[in-house]
Amino acid sequence: MKIVMLGAPGAGKGTQAAMICEKYDIPHISTGDIFRSNIKNGTELGKKAKEYMDQGKLVPDELTIQLLLDRVAKDDCKNGYVLDGFPRTIPQAQVLTEALAKTGEKVDFAINVDVPDENIVHRMSGRRSCPKCGASYHTTYIPPKREGICDVCGAELIQRDDDKPETVKNRLSVYHEQTQPLIDYYEKAGVLKTVDGTKDKDEVFGDIVAILG
Ligand code: AP5
Ligand code: MG
Repeated sequence: MKIVMLGAPGAGKGTQAAMICEKYDIPHISTGDIFRSNIKNGTELGKKAKEYMDQGKLVPDELTIQLLLDRVAKDDCKNGYVLDGFPRTIPQAQVLTEALAKTGEKVDFAINVDVPDENIVHRMSGRRSCPKCGASYHTTYIPPKREGICDVCGAELIQRDDDKPETVKNRLSVYHEQTQPLIDYYEKAGVLKTVDGTKDKDEVFGDIVAILG
């Protein structure tokens, strides 16, 4: 099962991807998490990616596409995976389609988590993330059991650098310009499924499971 998560920044792609991966026992591949871990480890890629991420811009395709292709070629991806944050541009989607076609495969589901812009800024300002395992919380909607501590791995939660209101605005406009066209792309491919992302996270997950079967 190869699943692509679509949706605006803060729509809940990461939250839902983690739940899907746990239920179906497939890897959760988030390009955002890969870049953040490179930033944390001070790699060359991390230094380059940070320049773009801090401004709410997309990291260039040259730095992103090969990274993703290498990741999905690994052994743990044999039974499928959930892509969270990739593709984000039409060229990224085309490369993925072509790479899969070489082995007669395709994206099985593109799940569009639909949340209006008005809800996004509030979600982002309350988000707390785990720098170690990537789990995502919200101070009001999805609080951790112990304040400031990750339920999954016990690490101290942080606020992401790109969750400042100014950067969030940029991320939203980049989303509408460059990523939203993918909704059409996957609709034409016949695999688009849209869920209402404003519902409670467990209800959204229920809707997704009903789609995946
Ligand atoms: P990335 O890390 O992918 O960020 P994003 O797409 O902006 O999405 P977010 O992670 O902010 O939101 P999400 O949809 O995962 O929501 P979450 O579940 O956390 O990318 C970051 C940057 O990396 C990009 O800006 C770009 O620079 C670069 N990048 C990454 N991939 C790239 C690519 N392919 N090409 C180029 N550049 C790339 O939820 C958000 C909040 O809401 C949380 O607090 C959560 O607890 C809460 N929440 C979730 N669900 C619900 C619910 N149902 N009700 C209430 N609250 C909820
Ligand atoms: Mg995310």
